[in-house]
Amino acid sequence: MEKRDSWGSRLGFIMAAAGSAVGLGNIWKFPYTAGSNGGGAFVLIYLIFVVFIGFSIMLTEFAVGRRKNLAAVGAFKSVDKRWTFAGVIGVLSGFLIMGFYPVVGGWALAYVFKTFTGLLSAPDAIGDVFGGFITNAWQPLLWMLAFLLMNVVIVARGVSTGIEQAGKILMPILFGILIIISIKGLTLPGAAAGMEFLFKPDFSAINMSVILAALGQAFFSLSLGMGCMITYGSYLKKSENLVSNAAIVTGMDTGVALLAGIAMFPAMFAFGIEPTAGPGLVFVVVPHLFAEMGGVGVLFAGLFFIALTVAALTSSVSLLEVVVAYLIDERKFTRRNAVLASSGVMALLCVLASLSLGGVGPMLFGTGAFDVFDLLTDKIFLAVGGALLAVFAGWRLNKEELKNEITNNGEVKFGIFGLWYGLVKFVIPVVIAIVAIGGILDGFEAGKGPIMLIGLGIIALFAAISKKL
Ligand code: PHE
Repeated sequence: MEKRDSWGSRLGFIMAAAGSAVGLGNIWKFPYTAGSNGGGAFVLIYLIFVVFIGFSIMLTEFAVGRRKNLAAVGAFKSVDKRWTFAGVIGVLSGFLIMGFYPVVGGWALAYVFKTFTGLLSAPDAIGDVFGGFITNAWQPLLWMLAFLLMNVVIVARGVSTGIEQAGKILMPILFGILIIISIKGLTLPGAAAGMEFLFKPDFSAINMSVILAALGQAFFSLSLGMGCMITYGSYLKKSENLVSNAAIVTGMDTGVALLAGIAMFPAMFAFGIEPTAGPGLVFVVVPHLFAEMGGVGVLFAGLFFIALTVAALTSSVSLLEVVVAYLIDERKFTRRNAVLASSGVMALLCVLASLSLGGVGPMLFGTGAFDVFDLLTDKIFLAVGGALLAVFAGWRLNKEELKNEITNNGEVKFGIFGLWYGLVKFVIPVVIAIVAIGGILDGFEAGKGPIMLIGLGIIALFAAISKKL
């Protein structure tokens, strides 16, 4: 067996974990999801979920990963084979998210190129350019493959060299650029309406599917509910402070999401772009924002898409790593073979996802592959995966053992251990169950209910055959 990797330094771990969390979820998904779910009220619920559920689950994932010193599946399996399925669902989520994530990563990469080759010179055409690009059959596929290839190269080199180095250099660049863009957006005339939309809750906009969307967004954005942070935690040294690491990563991730919102909404309102514009939001708003600035604008927009690509990359490598770690730990693959086999399958899923945006390929209940992968993971697998982990930690693991792990055998102070434990054991599983059921029922109105039910069915199936996994 190959020697298990571990992180080279504390900063390296934080950067890698924050690199996993901060990604397309914050910069691409958060703004358009907030936009199409009513704005302020969605943001408020999302923040409540981040604080009470997100932070607690992240701490649980770190603790379980480091305690068991095994990636997702192994960590569950080593305790009780009836629980193996909870890890396997995570690996499945990894495959499915990597079935559309590199498509969007490819868009970001393509937009670096487009920005520098004249996209901004025709501001009125920016919206059409995006629509034409993603529905084109070949172009997005080539960019997707280029993006996936970068993942393969980084993950093949192993966590402590590849992933850690990439995160350390590129994350700070991202923060800087987002701040510049936010300032630019806020100085536009009409910016105030955007801020109001984003931060002033209109509670009449809330229903169960908005609440489920906020829960899904919190899990997706924080890279939770699929074993990613269990896997990263398993590479973490025994002397590290899990509580502060979880707090820092949660804080950074949420900060970037809010910053992305501040960068996007004021500009959108100033330009008269609808907040419900959907997945094209960043790809239309940012070029628009910089279009009137000439050469400097091109440079800023170009930098933005470079940063977006990098943020996407440090997240997608963590997704790939979940699957790769499973194949290495549980199926005895070499790292190289694990990377090649899993990325091959992901490439095929991505082809389906990308083509579905042009209306090509199989549909499930009238929904294309891209949306099916997104729905299954974001709305079902991640949240239910988080609930399963909470039940596992609260009811199956030993309380003292968890306490020792989190406090490094009493060295780290964690005054709210009791509160955290109560949340994990009782509150979180119940809240997620209520939100998921309510969201699925609401989803039937939008025609998405059947797909979400299939998701639950898959989980039930894996649970039933857990011992054989
Ligand atoms: N958190 C990442 C993002 O916001 C996506 C992700 C989800 C990564 C789950 C790993 C696991 O883009």
